[in-house]
Amino acid sequence: MTEERIIHPAKNVCGSLRLPGDKSISHRYGMLAAFAEGTSRFTNFSTGADCASTLSCMEALGAQVRRLEDGSVEVTGVGGRVTPTNAPLDCGNSGSTMRMISGLLAPQEGRFTLVGDESLSRRPMERIRKPLAAMDARLVLTEGHAPMTIEGIALKAIDYTTPIPSAQVKSCILLAGLQTPGVTTVREAVRTRDHSELALRAFGAKLTRTLDSISICGPQKLHAIEAAVPGDISSAAFFLCAAALFPGSNLVLDALGMNPTRAALLDVLTALGARVSVLNLEEKNAELVGTVHVTAPVEGLGTAEISGALAAQLIDELPVLAAIGAFTSSGIRIRDAKELRVKESDRIALIVTNLRAMGAEVAEFEDGLDVPGGQKLHGATIDSGGDHRIAMAFSVAALRAEGETVIQGAEAVAISFPEFFNLLDLVAER
Ligand code: S3P
Repeated sequence: MTEERIIHPAKNVCGSLRLPGDKSISHRYGMLAAFAEGTSRFTNFSTGADCASTLSCMEALGAQVRRLEDGSVEVTGVGGRVTPTNAPLDCGNSGSTMRMISGLLAPQEGRFTLVGDESLSRRPMERIRKPLAAMDARLVLTEGHAPMTIEGIALKAIDYTTPIPSAQVKSCILLAGLQTPGVTTVREAVRTRDHSELALRAFGAKLTRTLDSISICGPQKLHAIEAAVPGDISSAAFFLCAAALFPGSNLVLDALGMNPTRAALLDVLTALGARVSVLNLEEKNAELVGTVHVTAPVEGLGTAEISGALAAQLIDELPVLAAIGAFTSSGIRIRDAKELRVKESDRIALIVTNLRAMGAEVAEFEDGLDVPGGQKLHGATIDSGGDHRIAMAFSVAALRAEGETVIQGAEAVAISFPEFFNLLDLVAER
């Protein structure tokens, strides 16, 4: 069933919000807690369907998950050994679930089948099969995709250089390495988000890190933790960009994740001319958390070029940056972001189609796009393609368009951020 949402233009964006827990961190806390010994407890766990997929797969493998009345999530782990199940493990729409759980299961005893929805079944899985096969894992894909089957077997440690920047691939190898005798090392040319490394340490594992590599010596045991999940900065991106569009805006986001491998958006917004300040910076389980305050420049946003390592670091924020590009003075140029084509949708193609539907001029490239600045957009019918970040990015563009915008497939926001439309209504002044 697809749902439509009408977004009316706004006059301003003001207010103070506290956002649900980070999706990447929740996946890792949920998966590691379910694998560890003991009972972990999390507050502000992600409310998104993706993290629910991780928890339900781990439940099917023997972990116990309890959602408490105060909203916290309690996970009792399997103590390092999962219970094999004949039923397919359904990863839903979640690439993180499928790629990370593959590394966790490859050295476990038993036979496992992993499936996903239509979008996930199109996404490339060779990127995890290759390093796992180098570790001797038995993993069979269907023409490079899910469904996949894993025949668990003892693995050997490897030293692997990732050909494309991917935190999911890095995490997959580390989770296999955690259970494998010897030192497993992952090297990456561009440093990707390091939540797995930080979470593994929080659960008691020892890892060693250099500037471009991370190593884990297995086997090691994990122990339960208690943690508050920081607010999701990739969800915050929609509100931060919305606030950046309105001179006179004033937005405060509390208890937001400020991990340096995730916070590049704040630099881009600053470069575009927005005033961004971070207050009350604290460390929790090695993750930084802070309060972010943003106001837009009276003279409007400038211009930005996002390429190279920055494109990889901002991969989840690129749809919303592209969607606001038309409202900058000299445009937004994105390159080296070919990975966008193999996310929950072909995000480059969908951004281009939807920007054009709103009357924008835009140039498409294999690895990015150019959105010239100084353009006026009109309301239009937007196809989310079932992709949560496309639905939210165009809801933000719609705030500055003339006339109303219809977001088709609006239910997709529940993948990472079910509260999105309610919170948008709270801060958008009409
Ligand atoms: C994620 C890593 C990124 C990102 C995804 C979540 C993670 O994917 O796009 O939304 O939690 O590790 P890749 O690692 O494939 O780039």
